[in-house]
Amino acid sequence: MSDIKVHAEAGVMTITLNRLERKNSITSAMYGMLADALHAAQEDANVRVAVLQGHETVFSAGNDIGDFLNQPPAGNDSPVFRFLQGIATFRKPLLAAVCGPAVGVGTTMLFHCDLVYAGDNAAFSMPFVNLGLCPEAASSLLVPQMFGYHRGAEALLLGEPFMAEAALEVGLVNRVLPPTEANNFAQAQARKLAGKPLSSLVETKRLMKKGQQHATLQQMQDEGESFRRMLQEPAAKEAFTAFMQKRKPDFSKV
Ligand code: COA
Repeated sequence: MSDIKVHAEAGVMTITLNRLERKNSITSAMYGMLADALHAAQEDANVRVAVLQGHETVFSAGNDIGDFLNQPPAGNDSPVFRFLQGIATFRKPLLAAVCGPAVGVGTTMLFHCDLVYAGDNAAFSMPFVNLGLCPEAASSLLVPQMFGYHRGAEALLLGEPFMAEAALEVGLVNRVLPPTEANNFAQAQARKLAGKPLSSLVETKRLMKKGQQHATLQQMQDEGESFRRMLQEPAAKEAFTAFMQKRKPDFSKV
């Protein structure tokens, strides 16, 4: 069974994170598959809408931490960067259904989705600071913008989880549902969109996004440079090693 499942039907491409035994954490190979699926959805005239989803118990535990240690992303053509660029420039409507934990990129990818539906068990977090890292996916720009600076600073500096209702309040999600209904509801909304004129959807999205597309991509570039450097520094090494050894990190010497 593939770690990423892709299914297209009735104009909707559904991309499912399917690595439950590792809480849908995302490996380099999975980023490659996600980037390829988005590219295919973009190019295929039969696909009008894409949906990202996980399982009703977990959306994604973020980047695979073993991968951070063993094969950190090297540059702009790395799979993770291809995925982030792909999601930030995706021209057709993109929906997400999120249940359970959505950690790191599991949350930051949502800032590039047009509609987000959450199970009431959804727990969002961006714990980059707790891992000796910095934000990615342009979240250092988009989080303060969406949440307001102080709530954004709380989310990014403390990195603590916030639940679906709080995400609804700050505008990160459109609607909170029972976890068993979130994927189906996103699917129903996607089908509604797939019945509308694609050219109008694409043009409307372009017009809504154009004011900050350049700034978003530039921020992602800046973040990427810092992130790649910080991955090699002692704080991140300590955080990842502690995770693997199932202990609390000790940042007293870094
Ligand atoms: N990378 C690699 N493995 C991961 C992982 C990750 N990001 N997240 C979870 N796993 C693994 C765990 O190590 C565990 O493996 P094991 O069965 O060999 O012990 C397995 O997946 C199940 O995870 P567990 O922590 O037992 O599940 P949980 O339900 O108690 O907690 C999370 C779920 C998502 C809250 C928790 O796993 C977590 O915090 N993960 C790390 C998130 C993170 O820091 N991501 C990086 C963001 S940049």
